[in-house]
Amino acid sequence: RKPPSRKGSMHDVPNDLMKHIHELEKMFTIDTPKLHEIVSVFQEELIKGLSVAGGTIPMNPTWVIGYPTGDETGTYLALDMGGTNLRVCEVELPEEKGQYEICQSKYRLPEEIKSGTGEQLFDYIAECVKQFLVANHDGQDVKDLKELHLGFTFSYPCEQNAIDHGILQRWTKGFDIEGVEGHDVVPMFEAALERKGVPIKITALVNDTTGTLIASAYTDNTTRIGCIFGTGCNAAYMETVGSIPKLAHMNLDPKLDIAINCEWGAFDNEHRVLPRTVYDKHIDEHSPRPGQQTFEKMVAGLYLGEIFRLVLVDLHSNPDVKIFEKQDISALQTEYSLDSSFLAEIESDPWENLMETHALFEKKLKIETTEPERKLIRRLSELIGTRAARLSACGVAAICKMKNIESCHVGADGSVFNKYPNFQERGAKALREIFGWGRAVRKDPIQIVPSEDGSGVGAALIAALTMKRIRGGIH
Ligand code: GLC
Repeated sequence: RKPPSRKGSMHDVPNDLMKHIHELEKMFTIDTPKLHEIVSVFQEELIKGLSVAGGTIPMNPTWVIGYPTGDETGTYLALDMGGTNLRVCEVELPEEKGQYEICQSKYRLPEEIKSGTGEQLFDYIAECVKQFLVANHDGQDVKDLKELHLGFTFSYPCEQNAIDHGILQRWTKGFDIEGVEGHDVVPMFEAALERKGVPIKITALVNDTTGTLIASAYTDNTTRIGCIFGTGCNAAYMETVGSIPKLAHMNLDPKLDIAINCEWGAFDNEHRVLPRTVYDKHIDEHSPRPGQQTFEKMVAGLYLGEIFRLVLVDLHSNPDVKIFEKQDISALQTEYSLDSSFLAEIESDPWENLMETHALFEKKLKIETTEPERKLIRRLSELIGTRAARLSACGVAAICKMKNIESCHVGADGSVFNKYPNFQERGAKALREIFGWGRAVRKDPIQIVPSEDGSGVGAALIAALTMKRIRGGIH
C-alpha cells in the first residue's frame, strides 16, 4: 500500500484549524526571493564587520593563522565549554598525516552556574580539569603536568588581541554570569586553575567554529568554512589580512590568512531583513540580552522548542482556535520546557497517525491530543525546522559570495545539524535555490558536511599551531 501523501494526510483537518495552519505557513515560510534578499543583506553586514567602523556582526579576528598542514604532532589538552556540556579531552596528534587519538570525559554544566558568578563558573571548570588529569595521569602529581598545552574552547563572542587572550563581549545562549563581560577570561580561568593546584597555562582560546574549521581542514583540504548549528549558531572562515580594514593599523603581512570568528548570531540586530514573527520578538524581549543575537534566536537549538511552545500557547488562548480544549496546559506554560530534541522527535514520527507525537504530548505535557491537533503540531515543527535550515544556509551563502568561493566543503557540527531530521537536506535545497544550481549540476559545488570534532581536536590543533609559531619565534 502506498503511504498517504503529505497533502492527502491533511484532508481530515477541519477547515477552521486548516485556516490557522495556513497562517502559520505564511508566517514561517522563507521563499526563494526572500532567501536572496537575506543573503545580500547578510553579505553587506559581514563586510561591515570587517571595516574600521564595524557593524553588528563582530567578525572577530582569532589569531589562528593559516590552515594546519596535517603534520602537527604532540599531546594536547582541550577543554570545551559549549552551551550545554563541558568536556575535557587529551588529544594525541601522531606522526601520520591527518590522524588523531582522543581520550575524553564529559561533565554536566549545572543550570545554576549559567546565572551565577564568574568565580563559581571557572572554579567548577577548573575542578573538572583537575579530576580529568587525576583520572588520566594515574600516579603522576598534577603539579608535574606543567608541560601540557591547553586549547580552551570557549564558545562565546570574545575580542582577541592575541590567541591567548579574549575579552568576553557578551554572554549568548541564555548565559548570564556576573562579572565576566568586558573582562579577559583567560586570566580568570588560569587563576581558578591555580586555586586548584593545576599548573597549566592556556595556550590558545578557541571558538567552537574556528576549531571546527581547523579540524575539518586537517582531514579535508577543501574545507573553507566551519559552522556550528547547535544550541547556538555561528561560523568561522579564513580571511586574508589585506581584506580586513580594521587590522590595517597593525601593519601585518597583507597576504597572511587569519581565521575570523564571525559571530553571525548577531546578524540583523538592526532588523533590516529577517521576517521576525511575534514569537521571535517575545523570545528576544524575555531573554537575558534583549536586542542581541537576532539571527541566532530564530535558528539555534536553544530557541526552536521555545518558538514552538509559544505558538501552541498562543493558539490555545485564541478563542477562534479550538486546540487542547478542556485540557490542563500548565506544563506547556513553563518557559523553555521543550528543547529542539522534542521537535526532532515529532518530525521523525511517521505521518500516518502520529502516535509517537501522541505519546510525547501525553508523557511530557500531560496533554491528550486529537489527530487533527497532531497534524497541526507536526506541520508547525516542520515550519520551524525548515525556517531554521533555510536561514542557516543564508549565512553560508553570504560568506561564499563575499569570498567568491564557487565550490568547497563547509564543516558543520552541533546538535541541530547532527540530530534534527531533514535539517541537512533542507539547508542543501536552500543553497541550490540561492545559487541557482539546476539539474545540470550533478553534485552541489558547495556542500555542508559533518565535521571532525572541532572543540576537541580543533582546539588541540590550534594549540599545536600556536606552539609551532612560538617555537619558530613568530608571535
Ligand atoms: C553562540 C556563540 C558563538 C558560538 C555559537 C555556537 O553564537 O556566541 O561564539 O560559536 O553560539 O556554539
